[in-house]
Order: sequence, then structure tokens, then C-alpha cells
Amino acid sequence: MRRKISIAVATMIAAVFILFAPANASLVSANSQEVSYEVKEAGSNNTSVADGYFIKPAKLTVENGKNFLEFSLKDADYVKSLSGPHGAVKVISDSGNKRVVKLQVGDISNPIDLQMHIVVPEEVAGRPYDHNHKARMVVDTEGVDLSALAAADKKSDDQKADGDKDKDNPKTSDTTPLMMYTVLMVGSVGVMVFLWRRRTASE
Ligand code: HEM
Repeated sequence: MRRKISIAVATMIAAVFILFAPANASLVSANSQEVSYEVKEAGSNNTSVADGYFIKPAKLTVENGKNFLEFSLKDADYVKSLSGPHGAVKVISDSGNKRVVKLQVGDISNPIDLQMHIVVPEEVAGRPYDHNHKARMVVDTEGVDLSALAAADKKSDDQKADGDKDKDNPKTSDTTPLMMYTVLMVGSVGVMVFLWRRRTASE
């Protein structure tokens, strides 16, 4: 008897969990991929001093038709500002010397112009160091499929929009599992009550 009641309770709990699980839990975003890159001097193909402070790889993301690179900076305290052709980086997180930033980059098949303000303490640099520098970020585009990333971004946007629409006006088919679980839940409660009443009647 106890076992039957436990099964009924377990079924009910499972039904409640499934019932209230977020509708968009299955949404997977594939609009980003890792890319390697190098920071080169502004006026030559030589590797820039800055390259050692830019951690690889970066995460390339396409959002609403715009390309972004997200990457970390080492010794970020020295980097007072950093911007690209579309403006300053957005700081995603900043913990001590490591800063994660996101930069809108435009066309990644060409070098991306960077401007930065760098201040290094004299005891570290060995001399006063407060410079506005220029450099270029060169992305390794091999294996990068921008149109696939854009398509994945559009798909996830469409799914989100559908999700929002469904909240206001749920499609008939979407209510089917809801009804099924409600029936399941009511059924479980019924079984429990039935078993409980039979037990109390036999006592
Ligand atoms: C201990 C720290 C650093 C030292 C000793 C140092 C030293 C130097 C030196 C000697 C130059 C050659 C031109 C000049 O004298 O201005 C230079 C240029 C440059 N530095 Fe620094 N630097 C340091 C930190 C940084 C940091 C943190 C960044 C950026 C994240 C940076 C970015 C640049 C850039 C972009 C140039 C222009 C030439 C190039 O692209 O290589 N530096 N640095």
C-alpha cells in the first residue's frame, strides 16, 4: 500500500516539475565560435607588443547582423581604454588583472584597427609609460562561417519571438502537453485519494 502511495506521489511531483519547466529550455545558441587572432603593429606586419596582453582564442559572435569579438586582457590594469572602428569595448567582467571585453568588429576578413590608452607604472616599465597606441587585430578566418553564425542567430531570435508570442496567444498544439500533465496530476491525486480511502475503510 505504502509503495503504491509513494509511486503516486512521485508521479505527481514529476508531473509538476515537467509542467513548470521553462518552455525555452531547449533553445541552443550556436551563433558563436572560437577564433584565433594576432595583434600586429599599426604600420607593419610585425607582432605588436600588445599581442602578449591579448589572450587567445576570442569568441566570435554574430548578433543582429553585427560581428563581435569577446576576449580577455592580461594585466588589464595597464589598459585604460581600448576601442575599435565601432567604438569602445564593452566590459563583460573585470576581476583583478583579467578583464573580459567585447568589441564590435565589422568585417573580420580585414585587419581591425585598434586604439588604446596604456599606462604602465614606472617601477614596472622602467620609465614613465603613458601612451596612446594604435595596433591592428588580424583574425584567422579559416573555418569561420559567418553566414552560418548569422543564420543561427536569426533562428534563435525567431524562436525567442515565437516563445514570446506563444506566451500571449498559445497555439492549440502547445497546450497539449500541458493538458496531458494536468490530467496526469489529477489522476495521481485521484489514485492517492482512492488508496487512502480504501485503507481507512479497511481499518
Ligand atoms: C611592462 C609593460 C610594457 C612595456 C615595458 C612596454 C614597452 C613598449 C615599448 C618599448 C614600445 C616601443 C615604442 C615606445 O617606446 O613607446 C611599446 C610600444 C607599444 N606598446 Fe607597450 N609596453 C608595455 C605594456 C604595454 C601594454 C600593456 C600594451 C597593450 C595592451 C602595450 C601596447 C603597445 C603598443 C600597441 C605599442 C606600439 C608598437 C607595437 O604595436 O608594438 N604595451 N611598448
